[in-house]
Amino acid sequence: MKKQIINNVYWVGKNDWELRSFHGYEYSTHRGSSYNSYLIREEKTVLIDTVYQPFSNEFVKNIASEIELSTIDYIVVNHAEPDHSGALIELLRLIPGTPIYCTENGVKSIKGHYHQELNFKPVKTGDKLPLGNGKELIFIQAPMLHWPDTMFCYMTGDNILFSNDAFGQHFCSEMLFNDRVDQYELYAEAIKYYANILNPFSKLVTRKIDEIVALNLPVDLICPSHGIVWRDNPMQIVAKYSEWANNYSENQITVIYDTMYNGTRAIAENIVKGINATDKNIAIKLYNAAKNDKNDMITEIFRSKAVLFGSPTVNNGIMSSIAGLLEMVKGLKFINKKAAAFGCYGWHDVSTKVIEDTLKESGFEILMEPLRFIWSPDDDALKKSIDYGRQFVTLLNKD
Ligand code: FEO
Repeated sequence: MKKQIINNVYWVGKNDWELRSFHGYEYSTHRGSSYNSYLIREEKTVLIDTVYQPFSNEFVKNIASEIELSTIDYIVVNHAEPDHSGALIELLRLIPGTPIYCTENGVKSIKGHYHQELNFKPVKTGDKLPLGNGKELIFIQAPMLHWPDTMFCYMTGDNILFSNDAFGQHFCSEMLFNDRVDQYELYAEAIKYYANILNPFSKLVTRKIDEIVALNLPVDLICPSHGIVWRDNPMQIVAKYSEWANNYSENQITVIYDTMYNGTRAIAENIVKGINATDKNIAIKLYNAAKNDKNDMITEIFRSKAVLFGSPTVNNGIMSSIAGLLEMVKGLKFINKKAAAFGCYGWHDVSTKVIEDTLKESGFEILMEPLRFIWSPDDDALKKSIDYGRQFVTLLNKD
């Protein structure tokens, strides 16, 4: 059933309460998600984005129960990733030839996914689509936020920014608006989304926000393609994005390890003791990478000013949970974060070097030589681990 956003603008998306992973299994969605599609019914009827393909029949049926499908004048594809374009082909089967407004890269992306020639109307920043009743849509390209094809569009009159993935959250709610949901849950999902998806593009986020602010357009609503609509003080999420895009960190250290016989775990726990004994104000998070959600750990890394990674040596390398997490860390291009490596080994001392090399390659500043012990750490090694934590936080606080 459609839900009114304001005046003649409606949400016609799909709430996916059941979703527990996104991008295959790359992104955990503990609170589900939504695929937001918006219907504008001015003199012209415009559909902005669709939903993920498994829901295409349901989506088209729902819209058809509200309006005559043939009254849709235009379809806007702000971004062609299948979670938003997945129902396009099913819809166009019923209304073939409907013009599709997207960027040139959007054309490539839609053709690449669906292998069909459609009635494309490529647009650039500043192009306008009159809606009637004195209102229009203005297109704003936003390449790499987070795909090359991404664009936003702004609806005059109702002052709505349709921002696609930007400002979104994998957060399912029937409440529709930001002022009607639990703020802790909302922001937990918004920062997780930023840390896990948008962080590599932070410079572009800053530039795009500056560009939009410079346009001096009034923004009464921000309608992203996932999660809730920002209605109450919508610019609060823009301000948050500015903060997150600008070398963001909190007064926090995160320690992440994996362990086989609790040796590396003991080192981790004692490093934490040393940090806490030296600086009671710094928040510390400690995770076993094999037992925790990778995207939640990525969010904690994003929030931290320093991270310590630990693994014993196994098969001439590191444990797979740490390797997988470090691969994610490399791709997410964190900046301005300090780090160190630790671990134990039996007959071949490799793990801390592998971790340290990967951290350097990923742009982390290594604050201390790795902490490593042969076999299981004894009392002296545990004391040295406490000292290591003390030195680490002392050096960190000097910066
Ligand atoms: Fe929600 Fe980039 O798709």
